[in-house]
Amino acid sequence: MVALAPSLLSASFATLGETVAAFEDAEPAARPDLLHFDLMDGHFVPNLTFGTKVMQDLRELSTIPFDAHLMVENPEHYIDLCAAASVERVTVHTEATHQLPRLLAQIRKQGMVAGVALNPATSLETLRWVGEDLQFLLVMGVDPGFSGQHFLPQTIEKVAAARANLPKTCTIGVDGGVDANNAVDLVRAGAAMLVAGSSLFDGGNPLETLKALRNAVKAGES
Ligand code: DX5
Ligand code: ZN
Repeated sequence: MVALAPSLLSASFATLGETVAAFEDAEPAARPDLLHFDLMDGHFVPNLTFGTKVMQDLRELSTIPFDAHLMVENPEHYIDLCAAASVERVTVHTEATHQLPRLLAQIRKQGMVAGVALNPATSLETLRWVGEDLQFLLVMGVDPGFSGQHFLPQTIEKVAAARANLPKTCTIGVDGGVDANNAVDLVRAGAAMLVAGSSLFDGGNPLETLKALRNAVKAGES
């Protein structure tokens, strides 16, 4: 089954608590498998969002696992704060560190799942040196920094190459530009987790849209 994760960057920040509570109470088909949080520092990407306190406060409203996507420089500064916010998985960008294996070990030491994100122009080759330790790969479908950007179609090929080369123990996710038009192709290429922001929230009914995306993916899987 493919895991679906709404990116709260596309939700209104004025009503984040209500949005999380609505997801928590949703019927099973409309309930996210994870909630995706985009932390941006204005340096690694040209945008600012929020810090770990936002996750910590929202954590009280839901039991849905939290998925933190760190688009920050010095990601090692934020790992303990993510653990304190009871985050399930922390994904760091390989472009943001010179010491990827050490950073992943730091995340796992805190009992969290360690993920690596690759920008569109970053080769899969960088993962060779992480080896069997890689638990999760997040393939970016856009250059990170903003929601609502155009999906780069080469992402599908990259997911397929990753799936062919990485151990089966590594889950592959896709983030950026995911919608009902590309979700089935991404899943067929090997994605087992999809992040969706604007395609879920822009229509005004994220629960119904998530349910429709789940049904589309399920139909495409069979
Ligand atoms: C991009 C973020 C994504 C993004 C998703 O920098 O990591 O999570 O907000 O939004 P959409 O689905 O609109 O690309
Ligand atoms: Zn993200």
